[in-house]
Amino acid sequence: MEPDKKHRVCPVEHAGVLSFALRKWLHNPKRILRPHVKAGMAVLDLGCGPGFFTLEMARLAGKTGKVVAADLQAGMLEKARKKLADAGLAAAVTFHLCRAAAIGLAEMFDFILVFYILHEVPDQAIFLGEIRSLLKPGGRALLAEPTFHVGRDDFQKSIAIMKQVGLKVETGPSIRFSRTVILRDAGILDQGKK
Ligand SMILES: C[S@@+](CC[C@H](N)C(=O)[O-])C[C@H]1O[C@@H](n2cnc3c(N)ncnc32)[C@H](O)[C@@H]1O
Repeated sequence: MEPDKKHRVCPVEHAGVLSFALRKWLHNPKRILRPHVKAGMAVLDLGCGPGFFTLEMARLAGKTGKVVAADLQAGMLEKARKKLADAGLAAAVTFHLCRAAAIGLAEMFDFILVFYILHEVPDQAIFLGEIRSLLKPGGRALLAEPTFHVGRDDFQKSIAIMKQVGLKVETGPSIRFSRTVILRDAGILDQGKK
């Protein structure tokens, strides 16, 4: 597959595919996020798209929490902002436009959601290394990739990169049509031992 085709970014015109009615049943945001997001946490929805998960993150983090929704495409952020505004929660979320070469956030997070985005990123080592730098001590990320785009072998290659950049990789939850892992900062001393 050509590299540019392989890493094709989901276009804004396809945003509806990410919010179809049945998805709430397939990828129930509360069920997926509740084990990870608690009131008062700083959380990041990385590659938020039209905000399918951002809404629940804002509800779970609550008034005392901090929620950032970040995406490469301004059009996706606009859709996410509208979804949150319709629910009266837009003020609870900071919307951040990433650059292709860098996520570009300065703060750190207790929890980062990386849902169906990694296969769209051409340089996974840089991207995953940046995710590591965004994790607070003790923080974790839930990364999910779609089985219909990412085969077992490709996911294993990504896991090898995760370990190379100093992330500790743990078994992720069972999510329909998804390959998942939980990521933590492995710490300097653990590097090379994973
Ligand atoms: C398939 S969509 C998934 C959206 C959302 N996470 C969900 O599950 O509904 C992937 C999203 O990742 C975004 N994306 C792709 N590469 C990115 C990057 N390097 N930095 C930030 N966002 C990126 C795309 O713009 C798109 O909105």
